[in-house]
Amino acid sequence: MTTIYAHRGASKQAPENTMPAFDLAYHYGADGVETDVQLTKDNVPVLIHDENVRRTTNGVGFVQDYTYNELKKLDAGSWFHPSFKGTPIPTLDELLTWNQEKKMKLNIELKNNLIDYKNLEQIVCDKIIAYDMIDKIVISTFNDKCLHRLHQLPYDISYAFLTSKKRKDLIRFAKQQGAKGLHLRYRLLNKRLLENTNRESLYVAVYTVNQPISLARVFKINCQAVFTDVPNIAIRIRQKIQD
Ligand code: G3P
Ligand code: MG
Repeated sequence: MTTIYAHRGASKQAPENTMPAFDLAYHYGADGVETDVQLTKDNVPVLIHDENVRRTTNGVGFVQDYTYNELKKLDAGSWFHPSFKGTPIPTLDELLTWNQEKKMKLNIELKNNLIDYKNLEQIVCDKIIAYDMIDKIVISTFNDKCLHRLHQLPYDISYAFLTSKKRKDLIRFAKQQGAKGLHLRYRLLNKRLLENTNRESLYVAVYTVNQPISLARVFKINCQAVFTDVPNIAIRIRQKIQD
């Protein structure tokens, strides 16, 4: 069955990458949650998609220029809807604590393709191990160098290569770097690529799929996982096709 990940939480109905969005994904019955990690000035991993806080908070400037104590005062909910006023940017610790009982699958995307945060891999892996959550988590990154660094780390934590670009040696590259899967932009998906990737024992996940017709296609060809802003809709479509 195709795994349904709520992309940045249930981000159509709640502000992306906030605890209300993760809660909603859980209540809808999503299998997992995808989130993006950046690092504060004092090396606290926080869940926010952009390097800059401007789009999704009432603040300005880069995450890396804020200490966590400064960052946690920002409102990451009002931009989405006044009813979410005062919702803070969560830390990775908060998400991992929240998931102790829920035991959802988590895709932690390291957002280090524009700013290559020093030691981000190590910091995130240490947390995953501290919370005993290795079997629930897959890390992903767009950053080739980061993939290589993950390969060097002595942990049994799964990671995947994320890409939006066509690349001839994609499967070989991902395998060489020890990745378990490919997280591909939906438009790259076709049956042949899915088969070739699976033949090399890598799984395929696609992002970000919100249209019912596209979701139905993902389920029909049995792609291993999908990232969607509308997990409630995806679950209904999957029930019709795969149950
Ligand atoms: O991890 C899948 C997807 O989230 C990658 O793109 O920009 O939404 O983080 P983006
Ligand atoms: Mg992401």
